[in-house]
Amino acid sequence: MIDLAKGAWPPAPIETDRLVLRAPEARDRSALVELFASPEVGAHLGGPRPRTEIERSMPGAPERRPGRFVVALGSATIGQVTLTRAVEHPSPAAVGKLDLGYLFLPHAWGHGYAAEACAAALAWRAAVLPGEPVVLTTRTANVRSMRLAARLGFTEVERFEAYGAEQWLGIFLE
Ligand SMILES: CC(C)(COP(=O)(O)OP(=O)(O)OC[C@H]1O[C@@H](n2cnc3c(N)ncnc32)[C@H](O)[C@@H]1OP(=O)(O)O)[C@@H](O)C(=O)NCCC(=O)NCCS
Repeated sequence: MIDLAKGAWPPAPIETDRLVLRAPEARDRSALVELFASPEVGAHLGGPRPRTEIERSMPGAPERRPGRFVVALGSATIGQVTLTRAVEHPSPAAVGKLDLGYLFLPHAWGHGYAAEACAAALAWRAAVLPGEPVVLTTRTANVRSMRLAARLGFTEVERFEAYGAEQWLGIFLE
């Protein structure tokens, strides 16, 4: 969970050119179930979770927690972006830092939506937690994610082995 100043969460919905980032609502549930059950989304994240398990763990509206944004394109929920405090992390360099995560439904890949949403989340973070670096961990084999990290301005801290694969730790300092 991100330790925000009281009243900073949830923010008013953040509008970008094409998207809206906002706290999750009941109407996002089915898209989020699809997201966590998608084999393509889970390919570099240890595999998808069984749909029944996901549905059981999300009986009603998706959990609202500070730093968890869903991303909407018109009336469609296409993904989520999270900024969480890395309490435990396989790289000591990341512990205690803000950690950016992103998951988008495959039909929304290849349009620049993830880059647009993550840039907006990073800008929001700059306003509420100025000067805080943000880290990002991804498998080096996750080519799309590696390209996105570079496009957002993350630079390499280190590569390390974890979860059975080579991982890349990047940092964003602006
Ligand atoms: C990682 C992930 C978010 C990347 O999604 P993405 O759509 O490739 O990322 P971007 O938003 O940066 O889009 C870039 C692509 O959109 C294209 N694009 C099209 N229109 C665009 C526009 N208007 N602006 C910018 N890019 C545009 C770019 O050319 C690029 O295409 P390319 O990949 O064929 O070169 C997505 O693959 C995903 O959700 N993966 C599963 C979850 C995951 O692995 N997360 C990482 C764990 S942290």
